[in-house]
Amino acid sequence: MSTKPRILTGDTPTGRLHLGHYVGSIESRLRFQDTYDCFFLIANMHAFTTRADKPDEIRQSTIEIVKDWLACGIDPERSTIVLQTEVPAIAELTWYIAMLLPFNRVMRNPTLKTEIEDKGLGDTYSFGFPMYAVGQCADILIFRPELVPVGEDQVAHIEPCREVARRFNQIYCGVNPHTEDDEYVKAGGLFPIPKAEVGRVGRLPGVDGRKMSKSLNNAIYLSDTFKQIKKKIGKITTGRQSMDEPGDTTNLLFDYVRAFIHDEDRVAELERRYSTGDNIGDGHIKVEVAEAIEKIIGPIRERRAEFDTPAGEEKILGIIRDGTRRANKAAEETLYLAKKAMRLDFGPRTLQLR
Ligand code: TRP
Repeated sequence: MSTKPRILTGDTPTGRLHLGHYVGSIESRLRFQDTYDCFFLIANMHAFTTRADKPDEIRQSTIEIVKDWLACGIDPERSTIVLQTEVPAIAELTWYIAMLLPFNRVMRNPTLKTEIEDKGLGDTYSFGFPMYAVGQCADILIFRPELVPVGEDQVAHIEPCREVARRFNQIYCGVNPHTEDDEYVKAGGLFPIPKAEVGRVGRLPGVDGRKMSKSLNNAIYLSDTFKQIKKKIGKITTGRQSMDEPGDTTNLLFDYVRAFIHDEDRVAELERRYSTGDNIGDGHIKVEVAEAIEKIIGPIRERRAEFDTPAGEEKILGIIRDGTRRANKAAEETLYLAKKAMRLDFGPRTLQLR
């Protein structure tokens, strides 16, 4: 097995990936593929927390997410693609660490609260819904990674994971509570205290200015056509009336300019002309933004199409199986060590890998 430090991150298959995922996390995953031993998790069990009645959709989304990953450049030769529901050690570890997280601590998670609001879950959500926040700690810890590359919205999930890791190491591995985070493993702990790594643009708003999400219908997908991209960018409103009206560049349109136009001189020029009302219309800027986005998405969309055939989907399933087999080796090793630390070393356990 690799001796490189590990990374774990993942996506929930409730739809295709959008630009927010790309700039928040996918870009950094691509960057880390050579220097880290990367595990990328499809959190399909989590998809059931809000869509238990839609198993067909979840199955298809699972495949679509992997298509998106491969199209972006995630390389299954270098990185391990993991299907959550086929790694039983994750579910098992979830139970044990649930005992190390106070109930109110779980419910205080601002990301859970936002999701309850955005998805209109009211107070009828399942027991399993907040449980996913505990499960996410297990997703991470079972691979003992050092880094977790995520968008800003996920940082609130990494914090409890760090708390659990410290607590486990203290209670079951006898590590002194005053130990520095970086020193836990050296001090005899099983789990490194993982760090969140937020991408280049931690929070890319949707085209209506709210959080970019499928449920709010404001997302630009990595599989969108140029026409769809132009149409969606066209929806951004600035409130500015004319080309010679000076505008404030701290607006949504300029968030997109700065996120996607990589030529710094051009960005500076657009900012100057916009803020002085120097004959530049919103419409013109939107075209430039849409073209810059197309430069990223165009090649992804083309590579993605290669998998949009029955043979392509078969290939995806093979990649999922191979990766998950590898992942189970790492996960079973951690679970074995965790149970040993918990004095649950009653019998040998051998997982049957198919
Ligand atoms: N909750 C994450 C999302 O919806 C997906 C996820 C599940 C994840 N387990 C994870 C991300 C572990 C990072 C680490 O985007």
